[in-house]
Amino acid sequence: MNIAANPIVEANQTIYLKDYQKPSYVVDSIHLDIQVYDDHTDVSSKLVMKRQTDGDLVLLGRDLELKSIKINGKKLTESEYKLDSEQLVIRNAPEQAIVETVVLIHPETNTQLEGLYLAGSDLFVTQNEPEGFRKITFYPDRPDVLSVFTTRVEADKKYPVLLANGNLIEAGESGEDRHYTIWQDPTKKPAYLFACVIGDLAVLKDRYTTSEGRDVALEIYAEEKDIPKCHIAMEALKHSMRWDEEHYGRAYDLDNYMIVATSQFNMGAMENKGLNIFNTSCVLADEEYTTDAAIMRVQSVIAHEYFHNWTGNRITCRDWFQLCLKEGLTVFRDQSFSEDLQSAAVQRIDDVAVLKAHQFPEDAGPLSHPPRPDHFVEINNFYTATVYEKGAEINRMMSTLLGKEKFRKGTDEYFRRHDGQAVTVEDWVAALTAGSGVDLSAFLIWYNQPGTPKLEAKGEYDASTQIYRLTFKQTLKAHPKYSNLKPVPIPVALALFNAQTGAQYTLKSDRLFENGVKDGVYLFDQAEASIEFTGITEKPIASLLRNFSAPVNLEFNYSDPELAFLLQYETNGFNQWQATQTLLERILLDGHDAQIYVDAIQQTLPNVIEKDPLLASRLFDVPTESYLGSRIDQDYNPLIVHEAREALLNQLAKVLGSFTKDTYLSLDPDSQHEFSQAMGVRALKNIMLSLMARQGDSEVFDLAYAQYENSMNMSERLGALKVLVWNDAPQAQAALQDFYTHFKDEDLSLDQWFMIQAAHPKATAETIQYLTTHVDYDLGTPNRIRSVSGGLNANPVNTWSFGVQHFVDLAKYLDEKNPIVGSRLLQVLTRWYTLAEPQRSEVKASLEALKSQVKSKNVSETLNSMLSI
Ligand code: ARG
Ligand code: ZN
Repeated sequence: MNIAANPIVEANQTIYLKDYQKPSYVVDSIHLDIQVYDDHTDVSSKLVMKRQTDGDLVLLGRDLELKSIKINGKKLTESEYKLDSEQLVIRNAPEQAIVETVVLIHPETNTQLEGLYLAGSDLFVTQNEPEGFRKITFYPDRPDVLSVFTTRVEADKKYPVLLANGNLIEAGESGEDRHYTIWQDPTKKPAYLFACVIGDLAVLKDRYTTSEGRDVALEIYAEEKDIPKCHIAMEALKHSMRWDEEHYGRAYDLDNYMIVATSQFNMGAMENKGLNIFNTSCVLADEEYTTDAAIMRVQSVIAHEYFHNWTGNRITCRDWFQLCLKEGLTVFRDQSFSEDLQSAAVQRIDDVAVLKAHQFPEDAGPLSHPPRPDHFVEINNFYTATVYEKGAEINRMMSTLLGKEKFRKGTDEYFRRHDGQAVTVEDWVAALTAGSGVDLSAFLIWYNQPGTPKLEAKGEYDASTQIYRLTFKQTLKAHPKYSNLKPVPIPVALALFNAQTGAQYTLKSDRLFENGVKDGVYLFDQAEASIEFTGITEKPIASLLRNFSAPVNLEFNYSDPELAFLLQYETNGFNQWQATQTLLERILLDGHDAQIYVDAIQQTLPNVIEKDPLLASRLFDVPTESYLGSRIDQDYNPLIVHEAREALLNQLAKVLGSFTKDTYLSLDPDSQHEFSQAMGVRALKNIMLSLMARQGDSEVFDLAYAQYENSMNMSERLGALKVLVWNDAPQAQAALQDFYTHFKDEDLSLDQWFMIQAAHPKATAETIQYLTTHVDYDLGTPNRIRSVSGGLNANPVNTWSFGVQHFVDLAKYLDEKNPIVGSRLLQVLTRWYTLAEPQRSEVKASLEALKSQVKSKNVSETLNSMLSI
C-alpha cells in the first residue's frame, strides 16, 4: 500500500518500505488550540497546506470526534470527504489548502498512554512518537512532514503549569478560573515531536550558556516532594550539553530546555523538541531512594534525549523504517557519554551484556528483524533491542574503523548536509563516507539483514618463520523472511600476547586498518579470509574482538588455561571480563571444570579491586539463568540450568572461604571519592554478602540486617534486603515491613519492594497473587507492572511455570488498556519453542489460546510472529 496518500488503511495491514511515497501535501504551519476540561478536551487546528505531488489530501486521525472541518474558509459537508477509523481523505483538494478542524478527545480516559492523556490525578502529558499525534488532531502524521507549530493551551487554574514546545509568547486569563499560554516553536518539526503538558508541578531551574553564547533556561518539572531528587539529572543535562559541543560540535538551539517527569509512561523518555517528557524512573535520582544503577541510567537517558536534539530532531527520519537512524546513533552517543562518566570498561561490559541478553536472543528467534526492517504491521513493536542496541553497534563499528578524527569529519558532513531534513540510513552512510573519505557503503548490509553472524576464527603459529596466522570465517543462519544474506564487514580489534611473559606484541601486518588507533583493527569483510603477523617470537595468545568491536558470536578454539591467562593479563577490561564469561559459560553449559576460573579470579582480584572496584565486581558476573537459557536452542530445561548455576555459585563461595568476609569487612564505600568507585565498592560488598550466605556463615544475616538498618544508601539497603529475603532469613519479614513503612509514598523505591519479592527464587503463583492484589499494585502504571513482571522473570524456572499464565493474562488485559506495554510483556515468552517437552507444547497451547482473545495490532502482530516458528 501507499503510506503517503492512498485512502483506506486496513486494520492489520502490513506496511512495506518499498512502497514509500512522498507526502502529497506539505504543512507550512500549524496552529493548535487545546482546551482541557474535566470530562473532555477540545482541539482546534489550522493547517496551512500546499500540494507537493499528485494524490488526495490525507489527514490521519484515530479516536477523534470530528465536530467540523473547513477548507479555505468553507465548511465541508459529509459528502465532501471520506472518513474512516484511521483517516480523513479529501479528493480534489486545492493546491493551497487552509484546513481547519475542530475535534473532541478524551485524554481523561486514555489508558494507552499515547497521544494526550491524564497521567495520575493532576497532570496531562503527551506521547506522540511514533503515531500518537493522530490521536490529538487530524494531521499528516508522518515524520517527513515538518512544520512550524504554534500552540495555545487552556485549562482550569488548578493546573498552574501549561507547557508546549518552543518559546512562550503569551499568557493570560480566559474566563472563569481558566488561563492559557501560547507557545511558538521556531524550528520545523515532525508531529511526533510535538508535546504539551498541563498540570500541577514544581520546578527546578538552572541556566546554561552554549559554546555559541546562547543563554538557555533549564527547567525540570516534577512533583514538589521530588524536586530534591532532580539535581543529578540537572547536572547530567548540563554535562550532556557540553559533551555534545566538545565531541560533535553541536550546540543547543533554543532559549529553553524543559524536562517533565511523570510516573505514568510506557517507555523511558521522549525527546520532544525543547520539552522532553520522562518516566520518573529516568529523572529522579537520589542515593537514598534510588539505586546506583538507576542513577547511572538517569544520566544516560538524560544524555540520550538531549543528544536526540541533533540526531533525531534537527535531522529526523524519512519514515519509521529508518527508526534506527536516530535511535542507533543516539544510543551510540549516550553510551560514549557514559563511558566518560564511569569506568569505560564497565560501561562497555554493561552495554554488551544488554546486547547479548536481549538483542542476540531476539535476533535468533521468531521476532528477528534487521535494524532497518522492511515491513511491519505495528511500528510500536519495532522499538526493539535490534533497532536500538544493534543499531548502536553498527555506528560503533564504523567509528572504530575510522578512528576519532575521521568519524568526526563524517558526522560534521552529516549535519552539514541534512540539517532540517528527514533522511534515510543511506543518507547517513553516504555522509559519513564523504566526510571521512573512507567508503563505508558495505555497512548498509548490517542495517538490512537480520541475524547475529557467527565468526569462527583459527590461529596457527609457525615457529620457524615466526609467523602467526589468523583465519576467519563468517556465517549467518538462514532466515525465513530474508534471503540472499551477504557477508558483512566485521572490524576485528585484536592483540597478541606473549604466553610466557604476559606482554603484548607490537602488531606488524600490512592488513591492519589505518585509523590512527593504537590497537590493531583488522577489517574482515569476506566469507573467509586470513591475516598474518610477522616477528612473533613465541606461540602467542590472541585476544580477539577487543572491546567487542563487532556484534557477532565469536568462536575461537581457546583452551580454558588461555582464557584464564586473558583474565589475568589482558589489559582491555572488556576482554578480561569476556574471558571470564566464556569460561563460565563452558562450566555451566558444557560441564567444564570450575577450578581454573576460581584460581584465576582469586589471583587477579586483589589487584583489580585496588584499581577499579567496579570492574572487579563485574568479574563476579555469573551469566544469568535467562542468558544461559538463551544460549540453548532446543530441549531447554530451566531447572537444569538453575541447578548448574547454583552449584557453581556454591563452589565459588566455598573456595573463596574467608576472603569473602575479609573483603566485606575491609571495604568502605564512604571512603571513596568518586561515585563510580563507591558504586563499585558497594557492588562488591553486596556480592560478598550473598556469597557469605551461601557459605552458611552464622553471622551473615546479622551483618545484612545491620547493613540494611544503618545505611541511607539504596544500593546498600537493597543489597542487604535481597540477601535477607531471598534466603528466607529470620529477619526478612521485619525488614520488608520496615522498608514498606519507610518508602510507601516513594513510587520508585516501592517498585523495588515489589521487585524483590517477585524475584524470590522460590516465589510461587501465590506470591505473585499477593503482590498483584496488594493495595499499591496498579495495572494503570507500567512501572509497577514491570516491577512485578520483571522480578518474576528474573527466575526462568518461575517464568516458564506459573509465570506463563501471568504473562498471558497480562497480555490479554493490556491488549485493550495499553497494547504497547501488553505486546512488550508478552515477548518475555518468545523463546517458548526452545523448551523441552512437555513444557513446550503447554506454553504453545496457552499462546494459541490467546490468539482469538486479542485484538490490538500490537499484541496480535507479536503473538503471530512468536507462533510463526
Ligand atoms: N524516542 C524515544 C527514545 O528512544 C522512545 C519513544 C518510544 N515510543 C514508543 N512508542 N515505543 O528516546
Ligand atoms: Zn531515543
